[in-house]
Amino acid sequence: MDHDIADISLKDKGHLRIEWAASRMPVLAAIRERFEKEQPLAGYRIAACMHVTTETANLMLTLVAGGAEVALSASNPLSTQDDVAAALVDVGIPTYAVRGESSDKFYEHINAILDTKPHIVFDDGADTTTVLHKERSDQPILGGMEETTTGVIRLKAMAKDGVLRYPIVAVNDSATKHLFDNRHGTGQSSLDGILRATNILFAGRRVVVAGFGDCGWGIATRAKGLGADVIVVESDPVRAVAASMEGHRVMTSEDAAAAGNVFITATGNIHVFRAEHFAAMPDGSIIANAGHFDVELDLVALDDMAVSRRVIRDNLEEFILPDGRAILVVAEGRLVNLGAAEGHPADVMDMSFADQALAAEWIIEQADELDAEVYTLPEELDNEVARLKLEALGGGLEILTDEQIEYQASWQHGT
Ligand SMILES: NC(=O)c1ccc[n+]([C@@H]2O[C@H](COP(=O)([O-])OP(=O)(O)OC[C@H]3O[C@@H](n4cnc5c(N)ncnc54)[C@H](O)[C@@H]3O)[C@@H](O)[C@H]2O)c1
Repeated sequence: MDHDIADISLKDKGHLRIEWAASRMPVLAAIRERFEKEQPLAGYRIAACMHVTTETANLMLTLVAGGAEVALSASNPLSTQDDVAAALVDVGIPTYAVRGESSDKFYEHINAILDTKPHIVFDDGADTTTVLHKERSDQPILGGMEETTTGVIRLKAMAKDGVLRYPIVAVNDSATKHLFDNRHGTGQSSLDGILRATNILFAGRRVVVAGFGDCGWGIATRAKGLGADVIVVESDPVRAVAASMEGHRVMTSEDAAAAGNVFITATGNIHVFRAEHFAAMPDGSIIANAGHFDVELDLVALDDMAVSRRVIRDNLEEFILPDGRAILVVAEGRLVNLGAAEGHPADVMDMSFADQALAAEWIIEQADELDAEVYTLPEELDNEVARLKLEALGGGLEILTDEQIEYQASWQHGT
């Protein structure tokens, strides 16, 4: 029997990989089955700007099963899996995305999905929302969804300035999203990206993680699990203490630059590692970014400092500094888990995309009640997604007795 799938067409490879992801997304499958019967999205057009991965493909198929017309573009120039795009086009979902597309193409593709006159927009990083506010401010939109922390921060700033035009659900803020996707998804897949690009041994490495939020927690925890000596750089005092109590060393970026030899950013901030840090990093240091935008590593400064640069492996570029030291950049400083690996495993995207699908249904149901603000999905929906996931994982959920419920609700007890 032939075990090599290299010979099959791009779209067939995409179909197989989408099917494999589906087999690990039981919560989304249950929603898809219900959507097929109830058709809650019938008559609605949806434009989605998201990473074109096998998991996103399953979300798109769920929305279509619910009756929606869907068009998809990429939310990052380097995160598209071309086989997935080909498979989606094959099943009739217009998909505007090519891995490695230019910035102009990226925006051309966003405009293409918006030309379909969507009622609802799914966004990941708020780029589509920004286009809708700056360049297409006359286009009516019923509501939107935002997938990631950086996007939610941008949207909350827009709401605060009173410029947000329509209601948006911050899907990232659902517990079943950020506590699992950001932590376990980014934690595992960022290391996966660095491993695929470099094949280094993590054991014994001094891994600097900048940002100890949900993503940084995941990355630091997994790196420690692989035997790395983890150093955390954090600007929030509470999170810095949390990192310390998890057993990591906590340092300023200046001290960490000289102490580490693998550097991973997950802050959502700009120029976390810049010229002064590159000047102090040991020879052979590897730098990667897991945050949403490719601004966390100042690669313009690194390029200015370098006397030469060359791509030495897939998704790995070596910069040589005047004193001969090499600094290696993974996946052009873009989201390392999507640029150099396949993004989060389906098992975790199951919950994030269940939240997304339920958010689309919710925003349609609530359309008349909502203002142009940033909303979080109701807790019941979050809990329902968690309940379904636990069922799929085979866990049992404790049901409180009436006596226990009453005890918790009462203040008239004590010693
Ligand atoms: N790679 C992925 O697939 C993926 C998945 C989810 C989120 N993200 C992105 O990752 C980034 C982080 O997300 P999160 O949910 O962990 O956010 P978060 O807000 O929970 O954590 C960010 C942390 O970085 C710290 N920070 C900010 N600037 C810093 C600096 N200069 N130095 C050190 N620490 C600094 C903050 O204090 C905060 O604790 C965001 O851009 C988010 O959109 C990426």
